[in-house]
Amino acid sequence: MYVCICHAVTDKKINQAVNEGVQTMRELRSCLGVGSQCGKCICHAQQVLQEAHQVK
Ligand code: FES
Repeated sequence: MYVCICHAVTDKKINQAVNEGVQTMRELRSCLGVGSQCGKCICHAQQVLQEAHQVK
Protein backbone atom coordinates (compact mmCIF):
# COMPACT_ATOMS: atom_id res chain seq x y z
CA MET A 1 0.00 0.00 0.00
CA TYR A 2 1.23 3.48 -0.80
CA VAL A 3 2.13 5.64 2.15
CA CYS A 4 3.63 8.57 0.27
CA ILE A 5 1.94 9.24 -3.04
CA CYS A 6 4.24 12.11 -4.00
CA HIS A 7 7.29 9.86 -3.93
CA ALA A 8 5.58 6.53 -4.62
CA VAL A 9 6.78 5.04 -1.33
CA THR A 10 4.99 1.94 -0.05
CA ASP A 11 4.86 0.49 3.45
CA LYS A 12 7.09 -2.31 2.15
CA LYS A 13 9.72 0.21 1.13
CA ILE A 14 9.62 1.74 4.59
CA ASN A 15 10.00 -1.68 6.21
CA GLN A 16 12.93 -2.36 3.94
CA ALA A 17 14.53 0.97 4.86
CA VAL A 18 14.13 0.10 8.56
CA ASN A 19 15.86 -3.22 7.96
CA GLU A 20 18.67 -1.29 6.34
CA GLY A 21 19.10 0.85 9.43
CA VAL A 22 16.70 3.80 9.12
CA GLN A 23 15.57 4.86 12.60
CA THR A 24 13.84 8.23 12.38
CA MET A 25 11.41 10.15 10.21
CA ARG A 26 14.25 12.48 9.29
CA GLU A 27 16.35 9.62 7.98
CA LEU A 28 13.37 8.22 6.16
CA ARG A 29 12.80 11.56 4.50
CA SER A 30 16.38 11.93 3.39
CA CYS A 31 16.59 8.41 2.03
CA LEU A 32 13.13 7.97 0.44
CA GLY A 33 11.78 11.51 0.27
CA VAL A 34 8.76 10.60 2.41
CA GLY A 35 6.97 13.73 3.60
CA SER A 36 9.18 16.14 1.74
CA GLN A 37 6.55 17.36 -0.69
CA CYS A 38 2.92 17.80 0.42
CA GLY A 39 3.50 16.41 3.91
CA LYS A 40 0.16 14.58 4.02
CA CYS A 41 1.83 11.22 4.52
CA ILE A 42 3.89 12.14 7.57
CA CYS A 43 1.39 10.83 10.12
CA HIS A 44 0.92 7.52 8.36
CA ALA A 45 4.63 7.18 7.63
CA GLN A 46 5.41 7.68 11.31
CA GLN A 47 2.97 4.93 12.19
CA VAL A 48 4.48 2.52 9.66
CA LEU A 49 7.95 3.40 10.89
CA GLN A 50 6.95 2.70 14.49
CA GLU A 51 5.33 -0.61 13.58
CA ALA A 52 8.38 -1.65 11.59
CA HIS A 53 10.54 -1.06 14.65
CA GLN A 54 8.22 -3.12 16.82
CA VAL A 55 8.36 -6.08 14.44
CA LYS A 56 12.11 -5.88 14.16
FE1 FES B 1 4.21 12.12 0.94
FE2 FES B 1 3.03 14.03 -0.40
S1 FES B 1 2.28 12.07 0.05
S2 FES B 1 4.95 14.10 0.58
